[in-house]
Amino acid sequence: MNFKEIKDGIYYVGTNDFTTKLFEALWPLPLGISYNSYIVKGEKIALVDCVEISQSNKLANNVKSIIGVRHPDYLIINHMEPDHSGAINVLRTYFPDMKIVGNAITLDMVRGFYGIYDNLIEVSDNDTIDLGGKILRFRLTPMVHWPETMITYIEEDRTLFSGDAFGCFGALNGGIVDADINTTPYFPEMYRYYSNIIGKYGKAVQRAFSKISDLEIEYICPAHGPVWYEEIDRVFSIYNRLSRYIGEPGVVVAYGSMYGNTAAMADAIAIRLSSNGIKDVKIYNVSYSHQSYILGDIFRYSGLVIGSPTYSGGLFPPIENLIAAIKNRGLCNRVVATFGSFSWGAQAVKTMNSMLENCRLLNLDNISSVESKHAPTPSTIAACYHLADRLSRNLVSEF
Ligand SMILES: Cc1cc2nc3c(=O)[nH]c(=O)nc-3n(C[C@H](O)[C@H](O)[C@H](O)COP(=O)(O)O)c2cc1C
Ligand SMILES: [Fe+2]
Ligand SMILES: [Fe+2]
Repeated sequence: MNFKEIKDGIYYVGTNDFTTKLFEALWPLPLGISYNSYIVKGEKIALVDCVEISQSNKLANNVKSIIGVRHPDYLIINHMEPDHSGAINVLRTYFPDMKIVGNAITLDMVRGFYGIYDNLIEVSDNDTIDLGGKILRFRLTPMVHWPETMITYIEEDRTLFSGDAFGCFGALNGGIVDADINTTPYFPEMYRYYSNIIGKYGKAVQRAFSKISDLEIEYICPAHGPVWYEEIDRVFSIYNRLSRYIGEPGVVVAYGSMYGNTAAMADAIAIRLSSNGIKDVKIYNVSYSHQSYILGDIFRYSGLVIGSPTYSGGLFPPIENLIAAIKNRGLCNRVVATFGSFSWGAQAVKTMNSMLENCRLLNLDNISSVESKHAPTPSTIAACYHLADRLSRNLVSEF
């Protein structure tokens, strides 16, 4: 068997990107990223999803290595973000007669981004295209991650091409299907990918889940990361929990500190959380850890503690950024606490509490806080322990 064949007539032809430093010019890619693209061969041939522009020639060569001198009859576009659509115009120089298939919003973007007006086929929700031996069915799943997003399903193969949904950062290391590889490194990257890229669209992901609930699924072919076969249940459960903003037991302590006072409070809180039996306690100094990693764990865990010194009458800037990112994604259902240090006019805790108001669990009437004037005293540290105890109790009662 060709190792790129996922199952009869379905082939992987995607590419790895190990050179882009920041995905979307924002998110570091220490493990690279894959842009997944698939050939589906019936009597006719479809290419499902495309790749980023710099990978265009590689994609064309991969396609040729599978189908020889034939051309794909169709290019199915599940998602128009340029990490999946960038190669379209180059591909058309190789395969000029290939029909581009998308819904009305997709085709509007195809015209607008790429100036393409011919060979377009518009599909609506639940429409099908018969390849001869394999029927492609399309379901619209708007806002997972853009408004034109859709998924493609092949009933004969119980295979779902899910676009960004169920994807993760991390290039593929030779193997494609989860059963053939060690998937351990992909799961932390799935939290980071979901929280940063899709995190705002939890409701849309939930709607997409109900849109595919009637489908029998044996293989999930996402647009990034491994093809899921053995670990579909685990992947569904992660995406399901994250999109409902339900955390696992554990606490993120994210703080900023210029001169160590807020940092000392963070340490005291983390030590007490740990001695209360909470195993997953993650301290982050926001000036040194990239925000994407902090956000990944904030989405993962149900406890959230944020610390900031008062800085020029407001928040320490990276903390302000972090909270803006949390709010932008509509994070909720968290047991939240805040702390900070000031010298002449306390502002940080007050500001954080009002910004984080909507993130807390609705059954908690306020956010626990400690604020220290100057360096923390023994009584400040005792207040930090008390805060950690209260947080631990509320966290435990949630599970
Ligand atoms: C650049 C700068 C701006 C500050 N602005 C304020 C302020 O507006 N109000 C205030 O009460 N303290 C202000 N402070 C004092 C700090 O909040 C205080 O020293 C605090 O203990 C610092 O915490 P840290 O050691 O965790 O950085 C400022 C300190 C610095 C260095
Ligand atoms: Fe996307
Ligand atoms: Fe993508």
